[in-house]
This record gives sequence, C-alpha cells and structure tokens, in this order.
Amino acid sequence: MMRVLVTGSSGLIGSEAVVFFDRLKFHVVGVDNNMRADFFGPKGDTTANRDRLQATCRHFEHHNLDIRDRQAIDLLFAAGKFDLIIHAAAQPSHDLAALRPLDDFDVNAVGTLNLLEATRRHCPDAVFVYVSTNKVYGDGPNRIALKEFETRWDYADARYEQGIAEDFPVDQCLHSLFGVSKLAGDVMAQEYGRYFGLKTGIFRGGCLTGPQHAGVELHGFLNYLVMTALREGPYTIFGYKGKQVRDQIHSHDVISAFWEFAQNPRPGAVYNLGGGKQNAASLLECVELICQITGKRPKLTYSDTNRIGDHICYYTDLRKFQRDYPGWQMTYDLPQIVEQIAQFAA
Ligand SMILES: NC(=O)c1ccc[n+]([C@@H]2O[C@H](COP(=O)([O-])OP(=O)(O)OC[C@H]3O[C@@H](n4cnc5c(N)ncnc54)[C@H](O)[C@@H]3O)[C@@H](O)[C@H]2O)c1
Repeated sequence: MMRVLVTGSSGLIGSEAVVFFDRLKFHVVGVDNNMRADFFGPKGDTTANRDRLQATCRHFEHHNLDIRDRQAIDLLFAAGKFDLIIHAAAQPSHDLAALRPLDDFDVNAVGTLNLLEATRRHCPDAVFVYVSTNKVYGDGPNRIALKEFETRWDYADARYEQGIAEDFPVDQCLHSLFGVSKLAGDVMAQEYGRYFGLKTGIFRGGCLTGPQHAGVELHGFLNYLVMTALREGPYTIFGYKGKQVRDQIHSHDVISAFWEFAQNPRPGAVYNLGGGKQNAASLLECVELICQITGKRPKLTYSDTNRIGDHICYYTDLRKFQRDYPGWQMTYDLPQIVEQIAQFAA
C-alpha cells in the first residue's frame, strides 16, 4: 500500500491532502502540532479539523510532532518508509513573520530542510511536494505597468497577459520575512532535486482556499471575508482602493495537481499554481460576488496604508503546469468556491 506523509495535516491544504489520499486508500500519516493556534490564537485552532479527519478517514494516523524537531522527524522517517511527502506545514502570514522572525524561519526554512534531509536519508525514491508561495516573487510584480479599471487593477504589459510565470525574478525586491523564509525552503527543495536527484516538486501558490480554512484576519483572505460578510462584521481594506487582484484556487484542485505530479515527477521542477486569470478578482469584486451569493456584505472601512509588500495585482500563469500535466483540470470556479465556503460557514 502506498504510504503518504502530510505535514500541516490539520491545516487547509494538509487536511485536503489527507482526505484525497485516504479516498485513494493510501495509508496517510499526518504531522501537525496545531502551531496555527499558537500563531493566530483560538480562531486559528485546527483541532476540529484533526478530529474530523480522525473520525472520517479510515487510513489516517495523526502525529502531534513539530517539524522543527529534527530528531523526532528523523525517527518518523526511519519507521515510515514513505512513497510521497506533501509538505504543507508552515507559518503562513507576512505580518506574523515580522512579529516572530525566528519562529517563522525555524518553521518555514529549517523545518523544510529537516524534512528534505530525512527524505534523502530514509526514502530517497519518494516524491516530495513543497507547498511554496507566490510571495517568493516579493513585490516584484508591483513593478509591472498596470491599468486601472472601475473595480480592479490589471496588467498593462502584454507579456503578463496570462499572468505571472515561473521565470519571474525572485530577488532584489521586498519580500517580507515570510517571503524570505518560504523562498529559502523553495530553493532548498529545488536543490535537493537538482543536486541529489530527489523527486522534489515546488508549487508556488496563489490564494489557496476552501471551506476547511481556519480563516483569520492575517491569513486566509477569502474565508475571512466570507465569514465577516455572513455576520455583517467590520472589514478593513488596506490600500490600493480595494482593487487589488488575487487568483483563488480550491484546495481540492491543488491536491489533484500534486497527485498528477506525483505520478510522473520531474525532479526540482517549479510550478506556479493558482486560480489563474479565470479565477482572478479584486477585493471589491469579491465583496459583490459574496453579496450576490449570500445576500450579505461586510461593513467596509478603508485604510490608505497597504500591507507592506502586498501585491497590487497577481494572477498565476498556469501554462507551464498545464503543458507538463495535460491531464489536470481545475474543477472549481470562483462562484463555486464562495458558495462552498459560505455553506460551510453558515
Ligand atoms: N492559503 C494560502 O492562501 C496559501 C497561499 C500560498 C501558499 N500557501 C502555502 O501553503 C501551505 C499550507 O498553507 P495553509 O493555508 O494550509 O496553512 P494552514 O495554517 O491552514 O496550515 C498549516 C498547518 O501547519 C501546522 N504547523 C505550523 N507549524 C508547524 C510545526 N512547526 N510543526 C508541525 N505543524 C505545524 C499548523 O498547525 C497548520 O495546521 C503553506 O506552506 C503556505 O505557505 C498557502
């Protein structure tokens, strides 16, 4: 039986991976120490997600381990004999990284190294998927010429008509400490592919979303916006007139992309993975869409100050992944994503 390790298994992406591979009847080992609650307080608590997985997934076993604990990770791998590793444990927020730089780097960069090295030592034939982020491009995308429309920004430069591709520069720009710790993990995972020949795949996510997100103001934008709209609570827009654009992809479509990769891996390959142009919308447009679907809207207030390094317009050019893995298809559009989050949160 195929054995899969999922780190961050109680989080948005990790829990979706557990469900996906459990359905395929693989043995799934989850690692999560609920550090999200430590990072974000009680609203970030992922215990309910863990309990749901333990109650509903027949081939799932949970380990309350910290990926920073090198020895414990090494022992887990020595016993585990994994065929596939989905590494989704992380400190996921820009703003929080600035408050806790050492914890951010220890989890995102050093934790990733611990897992890569344990893979090399104990299961070098396994496929290793690193969930990276579009924040590795820092604020570089903000230098692209933009056009302003009534409700959104868009690229004015024809080279980016289909979005941001994998050859976009990653350095000499402002990243936030989070962007740097993720980039360190990203290039380290590439290097274990190129230098050691490990079957690593690096996926730079746009906005990854889905109903299982413990949405908090500092991370999980669409979930937090839907939840705030449903209770008609206050929501602060930070800068860019609310016209900042993000592309949303459902966590199920993220995991099905990982599975396509796992069945035919290309060591060290980097892919941008997001909702793409078709699932891109501005914050103001998301508010309208949520209102059309739920009849509710948040009470918006506006602050002129944007979050440091925040993208003005970002959507993913998906063509490299689609070219390499033509069997993959995105199954959720933006209205379906919002509907599902709203149903789950109601
Ligand atoms: N959600 C997004 O919009 C988005 C976008 C781009 C990239 N990503 C990346 O996707 C990955 C998963 O993000 P997510 O949205 O599922 O985040 P999440 O916070 O929902 O899940 C991460 C999980 O990791 C766990 N964790 C944190 N530190 C840990 C540690 N030291 N040891 C063990 N477990 C630990 C947390 O408790 C949490 O359950 C991250 O690498 C993130 O950077 C997310």
